Amino acid sequence: MRIPGRFAIPALLAVACTGAAPEMTLNIDLSSHGADVPASLYGVFFEEINHAGEGGLYGELLRNRSFEDARVPVGYTVEDGRLWSPEAVNYGTGRLTRKAYPWNVSPYPGWSLEGEDFTAEVTTEDPKFADAPSSLRISARSPLTLSNEGFWGIRYDKGGVYRLRMYLKSDAPVMTVNLQGDSGEECGSCRLDLIPDGEWHEYKVTVKAFAGAAKGSFRMDLQEGSYCFDYVSLFPEDTFRGRENGLRKDVAQMVEGLRPSFVRWPGGCVVEGITLSNRFDWKKTLGDPASRPGEYDTWGYRNSYGFGYKEFLDFCEDLGADAMFVCNVGLACTGRTGEFCADEDIHFYVEDALDAIEYALGDTLSRWGALRAAQGHPEPYPLRYVEIGNENFGPMYDARYNMFYDAIKSRWPGLTLISNYGLEPSADARKVDMVDPHWYVKPEDFFGRPDRFDDYDRNAPEIYVGEYSCNDGVGSGNMFAALSEAAFLTAVERNADVVRMASYAPLFEHENDRSWPVNLIRISSDKVVGRSSYYVQSMFAQNKPSYNLQTDACITEETEREAFLLEPGFFGLGTCDSRAEFRDVILNGRPLAEEDWTEVSDSHRKAVLTSGTRIFNSDVLEFRVNASGDELFRVFFDLKSPTLEEGGRYLSFNCGSVSLNGFYGENSQWNVVPEQSCAPATPGEWHFVRVEFLQDGVNCSVDGVPAFSHRTAIVNRRFFAAGYDEETSELILKLVNASPRPCPVRIGFRNGTAGRHGRIITLSASSPEDENTFEYPDLIRPHERRFRFSPETGCVLEPNSLTVIRLAALPDGARPPVL
Ligand code: AHR
Repeated sequence: MRIPGRFAIPALLAVACTGAAPEMTLNIDLSSHGADVPASLYGVFFEEINHAGEGGLYGELLRNRSFEDARVPVGYTVEDGRLWSPEAVNYGTGRLTRKAYPWNVSPYPGWSLEGEDFTAEVTTEDPKFADAPSSLRISARSPLTLSNEGFWGIRYDKGGVYRLRMYLKSDAPVMTVNLQGDSGEECGSCRLDLIPDGEWHEYKVTVKAFAGAAKGSFRMDLQEGSYCFDYVSLFPEDTFRGRENGLRKDVAQMVEGLRPSFVRWPGGCVVEGITLSNRFDWKKTLGDPASRPGEYDTWGYRNSYGFGYKEFLDFCEDLGADAMFVCNVGLACTGRTGEFCADEDIHFYVEDALDAIEYALGDTLSRWGALRAAQGHPEPYPLRYVEIGNENFGPMYDARYNMFYDAIKSRWPGLTLISNYGLEPSADARKVDMVDPHWYVKPEDFFGRPDRFDDYDRNAPEIYVGEYSCNDGVGSGNMFAALSEAAFLTAVERNADVVRMASYAPLFEHENDRSWPVNLIRISSDKVVGRSSYYVQSMFAQNKPSYNLQTDACITEETEREAFLLEPGFFGLGTCDSRAEFRDVILNGRPLAEEDWTEVSDSHRKAVLTSGTRIFNSDVLEFRVNASGDELFRVFFDLKSPTLEEGGRYLSFNCGSVSLNGFYGENSQWNVVPEQSCAPATPGEWHFVRVEFLQDGVNCSVDGVPAFSHRTAIVNRRFFAAGYDEETSELILKLVNASPRPCPVRIGFRNGTAGRHGRIITLSASSPEDENTFEYPDLIRPHERRFRFSPETGCVLEPNSLTVIRLAALPDGARPPVL
């Protein structure tokens, strides 16, 4: 079956093939010209979350440089060590809502003072910068050190040059600044002559590190005297593209490696704010970084606004990417307070969005275009997309969306305007250029829905998948998650006629702040690590074809990873870190004899009574149990012998509190049913348990109430996308094998010829649970090699792998490329 503009592969996936091998057969029409895969397809989304910018991408090394971090946002209060927002009526729920965040009690977070006799306080008296009024006032009656811990440490590179810039008023004539290593040893220092007149002065100095550090700190040695510090900032000279208020080079290079065609900014929920007063306010991010007020962030810390609108636009230029700006529509995040502005005030927000666009695109005679020119960039920036709001929905959003759309489109008809709705846009939105579905899902959702876009109305608005990731039940981001995203991206690429853009989210996490469960790139003070998902992203972006090729596919489906098929084996009753007494064990109505049982245990704190009797399909086991401890009791089965030998195969499930009920795969290696709500057993009480063993699952009841059940499903774990790169005259094939078994593939061609030599790039892991970590950053990384292709033998995909094959190919009648 063929659908205009793309190819209906998923329909073929439903056809189970017969025969053992090959398990994937592809027949590719080299002369077909399917959907163009747009240059815009793969981009990135940056939001200040998980310290993505502060202590991450943004190059500033000192935390709380402006001493504003302890400032309570206007209208907020601190009660019981928590920061409370004011109450607001939530536009989503109609209810009065307020939100609380943990509150840092230190008056000057990030800084510490050491000395015998001094006083220190944060003051807003006689501010250097009206919008960032806080400064640190110190009166030292004996020598004193003032240190900054950076963002959980500071990296210094041996030979690196560091730029210190600060404002200070003091009556002392001199001070020393020091770069300190991991154990406080000196890595660099410099003496600073001061103007001791008690007035504000700017000091700028560079310090060279003669030694390196991974988690160092910064220290200033002060003499007796009075001091008032503001904006104490330290940057490496060597930033990405050498920009002064620039980005950390290694982190920015990771983004560059994704070859993003666009960057979405600034959010995310930060666009909306906890309340409207603390929404991301782009205008406050312009100008001298020292004068920027910053804002308490939706994600629970202060954003210095150092990586502001101009820095974002510069970054887009440096990457050769288009810019996407997300504007606030007078609505705060509905998951926070959901505050909304009155209808008559909406014009303020419309104007604010128009001003942002004018700053990026307006001519230099316009108010905001002139400011851009004055700030050193007379040429327009590559702003191409504006998203109207973030994750705002409902009638109030629809009305505002229409207003924004009309106002922006009439002035900037060339911009693509994006609505927050997903695949089912609101009927009340008059005109929509693009919709923005978000998906944060379990692996099964990406594996199980390869047809997600296939029936999408080709006349409906184009799709920008603004946020997606597999982040549920996958550790802190394992290979299984990455492969499910690869499966999703094959669906995206095959439907590139309607899915025009996509960006993974969130982009970064700092090792010391993971407020979102799974993120693409991990940052510490001295390292940056790409998760397996990062490499999936880079492999897709770096191997984007010009258009799709029609492909007939036959793929053998298989049982899901979590599957089990009952094999006749011994069983056991036991515990794991808990205590249990079992009585009256009956199998198929017959009591089991006492001599039947053997007491065993393993190194994982399991204590088990194994039975010498085997369990078969349809067997029913009944027993009484009185248990205590978290996990209560566990049933083991499919044991090859009545022991728990290490490496010997068995399956088990446990019954405890709600969150602890689970079904475990081989040797309890993986949890199949992490959280099934059920009737839990009560510690210290006798319960009657009935277990029914089936060929493909178990049913368990406690005191006659269903406790949980599990059934094995038949699923597809193999996916592909085939396309042609006009620039290199190559076939580009992306193949996903998320099965733990190798997958033999046969590839045939029609209406063209393919060469015998090419390149193969493989990303694989020995276990789907594998993750890249700071300790093992390269555990999962793409490997490229030359590839000799033979249609007769095809190739074999490694278990748990994404493979990209690039092969010279020519459609019938095409001229060979001139070399
Ligand atoms: O990516 C994290 C958050 O997820 C974003 O801020 C928001 O848009 C979504 O809910």
